[in-house]
Amino acid sequence: MKVAIGSDHAGYDLKKIVIELLEEKKIDYKDFGTYDLESCDYSDYAILVSENVAKGNFDRGILICGTGIGMCIASNKVKGIRAALVENIYSARMTREHNNTNILCLGGRVIGQEIAKEIVEIWLRTDFTYGKHEKRIGKITAYENLINNMEE
Ligand code: RB5
Repeated sequence: MKVAIGSDHAGYDLKKIVIELLEEKKIDYKDFGTYDLESCDYSDYAILVSENVAKGNFDRGILICGTGIGMCIASNKVKGIRAALVENIYSARMTREHNNTNILCLGGRVIGQEIAKEIVEIWLRTDFTYGKHEKRIGKITAYENLINNMEE
């Protein structure tokens, strides 16, 4: 599995922890920045990482800002992306099993390092369960396609 990861300054410290975990688990990743603590715009990194996932360059993406909220809002604007802000273990599993999320958003100023690591591990290893959930996601994709076609 190939993972794209990005953060703003507020998610930078937690991103380093998540990267350590990816390296420990020998998961292939690319860090799209930011690369220091200087103030920057989460939206730039959300779009960069999300477009790379949507294009199929990476299987999944992880985005970290202060709350995870800005990253999640911006990421979900990219066609083909299903991003979720996750703050607990149950949601980490369900957002894969039921929502087939391809982007995980975390709040570096909200959750602790250990819970973040557990969330990432569970989110990466949990598969989508298809069935009725596939039909539900299909309705979101159909709406997304409709809107995009109207804009073209
Ligand atoms: C940065 O101050 C902060 O607004 C950002 O990291 C994020 O929390 C936005 O949703």
